[in-house]
Amino acid sequence: MHKSNFATDKNHEEFAKPVEIAPNIWWVGHVLEDDPFQCHVYLIENGDESILIDPGSKLTWPHTREKILQIIPLEKIRYIVCHHQDPDITTAVADLLEEIGTENRFLVTHWRAAELLEHYDWGIRFYEVQAEGWKLETPERTLRFAFTPYMHFPGAFCTYDETSGILFSSDIFGAITETFALYAEDAESYFKQMEPFHTHYMPATEIVNHGLDNIEQCHPIEMIAPQHGSIIKKEFIPYIIEHLRRLKCGLYLEFGGTRKIELMSKINAILPEVFEAAAFFDSFHADTKRILHSMHKVFPIDRIVSLVMIEETFFIKLDSSDSSIRPCSRSKRQILAKFHDTFYDQVRCFIDSETIQCIDTDEPKTLYTFPVHDYDEHVIGIGMFVLERSFERSDEMIEMLKKFEIAIDIISKREVEVYLLKRDKSLAYAMAITDKLTGLYNRHYLEEIAHAELAKAKRHDYPITFIYLDIDHFKKINDTYGHDVGDIVLKRFAQIIISNLRESDMAFRLGGEEFLLMLPYTIREEAVNMGKRLREATRVGGCIDHQNETICYTFSGGIADTEEAGFSLDNLLKLADRKLYTAKESGRDKIIL
Ligand SMILES: [Fe+2]
Ligand SMILES: [Fe+2]
Repeated sequence: MHKSNFATDKNHEEFAKPVEIAPNIWWVGHVLEDDPFQCHVYLIENGDESILIDPGSKLTWPHTREKILQIIPLEKIRYIVCHHQDPDITTAVADLLEEIGTENRFLVTHWRAAELLEHYDWGIRFYEVQAEGWKLETPERTLRFAFTPYMHFPGAFCTYDETSGILFSSDIFGAITETFALYAEDAESYFKQMEPFHTHYMPATEIVNHGLDNIEQCHPIEMIAPQHGSIIKKEFIPYIIEHLRRLKCGLYLEFGGTRKIELMSKINAILPEVFEAAAFFDSFHADTKRILHSMHKVFPIDRIVSLVMIEETFFIKLDSSDSSIRPCSRSKRQILAKFHDTFYDQVRCFIDSETIQCIDTDEPKTLYTFPVHDYDEHVIGIGMFVLERSFERSDEMIEMLKKFEIAIDIISKREVEVYLLKRDKSLAYAMAITDKLTGLYNRHYLEEIAHAELAKAKRHDYPITFIYLDIDHFKKINDTYGHDVGDIVLKRFAQIIISNLRESDMAFRLGGEEFLLMLPYTIREEAVNMGKRLREATRVGGCIDHQNETICYTFSGGIADTEEAGFSLDNLLKLADRKLYTAKESGRDKIIL
């Protein structure tokens, strides 16, 4: 077990002696230096039929032996209970039996453990609890055994002493305690210390609940005496059992050989939340905020960013602190240069935030960078966890953070998909409402937008003017020079219109050489000026050169506004068209008001 900075206060004299935890029931363990995973041994003083529970290891036995001898001669031990075969429970047995022999003594265990323990060839008879009706009766005392399979050995069980109501639970309820305490001080803090051990050693929550169901058949439980951690008083038991039933057990992840089980357990506890956030995709921004909330329980992290390449052309920036998706300010070349190893060799590494211009942080941070993949597992971008500057930049931490990459991978992929779908949809929509040749809006969009615009103008009582334009003698241009030239004329004329529009104005190509301008907040008198500007601009800049010829043209128009035609598009168009017709009939190259 990981030897952390376990504090053993030198004055543990009180634990140099056996401690009576209930009448004739003794703690005879030993406080191991620098070991947060203490091994407890218990002795039930019971005359010539005394019972030693989980005898311990070669490390503890000499001290346990001394303590027992302060209570009874070793020969009075008749039953040696081994709740399973782990060395921290059984390696003391050989030394004990060497001293007291095996005659008329029993090794109390489950058959599954017996099959393994017989390989020690101790020569002692096994008392198999399942074969003895899950109990051991002596004249003075009856023990009952509760089956707790796979907690954490297939044949694991606990011992319940009917006289004292003590449950000897072996590894179950054990804890990793930074400081030695024979008794748990309170339920909450002790359970916190139980979490890493049970997350690690108990294979699954369901298995733990099954074992607890069997344990709760033993009642009343006055005290729980585990093999590790601290003894649990009656008043703490309900809280601890309730929380143990809810604990997520079974650490199936490999963390590159690190032994930081507290950290691994915490990661194990938040990973389901993180994957749930990735599974039910909402948006990169929303989901990474949820993931940050979970990851923040373990890591000093405050932001998640993904730089993802869009069709080999540019990168977009997905950011947990920004709901909008922006093209990245750095060019593709700059990003690939900066993140070469991560992008091409999938190298994970820590870098200083100030070396990346496109990630603005309020203070220097540590960035953990990792590759982001598309559905074919090709690297399409760089993911980043923005961590406190002081974050430990170790391979071990890389192994820890790696576990979260997949979730960011999934969310980034989905967000890019949505981004591309939205982009393609708006591209398709733009194409659907735009005249391909001139880039002006088309009649379809006029139908879609004008009614709403007119309704708004009516509601807010402001005028809209329409100018209906038609290039004069356009058919002649086509017939004379061909449609290509005709198209050039149309495009040039459209450019002149665009360059004379104000912000709120809109221009449409209704088809052929017909155009319509919609000028909100404009009365028809003001629209005349627009007409004049267009005519002048067409005269000055509308002509096109074609083969040694300059082709010039004029246009005619009709103006109608809401003051005279009301807020009906039909009426407005009809009136403007009628005026256009008048302009044509009266010599063209004019706009009728
Ligand atoms: Fe064990
Ligand atoms: Fe153990």
